[in-house]
Amino acid sequence: MTDFKSLRAELLSEIEAVKDLDGLERLRVASLGKKGKITEGMKALGKLDPEERRAQGAALNALKEEATQAIAARTRFFKDLALNARLLEERFDMTLPSRPEREGRIHPISQTMDELLQIFGAMGFAVAEGPDVEDDFHNFAALNIPPEHPARQMHDTFYFPPDAKGERKVLRTHTSPVQIRTMQTTKPPIRIIAPGRTYRRDSDITHTPMFHQIEGLLIDRKTHMGHLKGCLIDFCRAFFELDDVPLRFRPSFFPFTEPSAEVDIGCERRKGEIRVGGGADWLEILGCGMVHPKVLANCGIDPDIYQGFAFGLGVERVAMLKYGIPDLRTFFEADLRWMHHYGFLPLDVPRSAQGGAL
Ligand code: DAH
Repeated sequence: MTDFKSLRAELLSEIEAVKDLDGLERLRVASLGKKGKITEGMKALGKLDPEERRAQGAALNALKEEATQAIAARTRFFKDLALNARLLEERFDMTLPSRPEREGRIHPISQTMDELLQIFGAMGFAVAEGPDVEDDFHNFAALNIPPEHPARQMHDTFYFPPDAKGERKVLRTHTSPVQIRTMQTTKPPIRIIAPGRTYRRDSDITHTPMFHQIEGLLIDRKTHMGHLKGCLIDFCRAFFELDDVPLRFRPSFFPFTEPSAEVDIGCERRKGEIRVGGGADWLEILGCGMVHPKVLANCGIDPDIYQGFAFGLGVERVAMLKYGIPDLRTFFEADLRWMHHYGFLPLDVPRSAQGGAL
């Protein structure tokens, strides 16, 4: 017959005395394993008469439970011990000065995006987002670009193979679909910007297959072209940190705005650099206009009550102008020397992003 008292005392003191996880595992096998003491005790129950078997069975089960828990607690203890030792060993002093040769840089696109969000944020625009893989409705149809419309050709679209329903998804060709998604789900007044990646099958000195845009959308009851102009002029002054940015509003066409315009910034190209102001060149930075009544109606907004303006800004374009980067393709070549030259130190904050720029 098993002597429970001494078996229990022996087992618990062994668990307490064990020195590491390996020892604990050996002990677990020796007590609870197939040939362990407790398991042997269980097997021996069969030889007892029913009454004794019941009593001993219950006691053995209780002991098994107690031993299992004691082993689990001890396991946690050793694991904590190991983790604490590791944390102590891997500690490093974050206040040590950095090594200049190892310093990382912030990519000019990330930097420019942060500045844009900061400026439009200060003007009361909230950030909205949409997917890079879009459907035809959001990228085209709802924006008043029906199938066969010639404007589709301007977009050099990347198409996905047709799905089970024969529908072809696209890589969004602009951030304008986020206008649609926002208007479908938000009641006016609306004031959002939508930053993100956009894609077109196009690659030369002034085009890359992936680039970035920031879309702006404002919908209210008495919005007019003057609001649009004022907003964009204020933005350009804050972003380029110049009170007299040379700016040109040129009539244009987009199916989703009426009237439509494009905005160019006066700039100078000299000695492989491009700079705002000074020269006789103009660089187009954005398209804009008053949201077409059909687009409002497509999103369930009554064009007799609401009007709005929208714009789509090329992020690479404004980054090139502000930071004098002459070639668009270099942005995505992942050349470390280029990053060292044009990139930003993590703690450098440009004036336009320090607040108070507006
Ligand atoms: N989506 C246009 C493009 O990528 C740019 C644009 C033009 C956006 C006018 C707008 C707009 O919101 O109103 O070429």
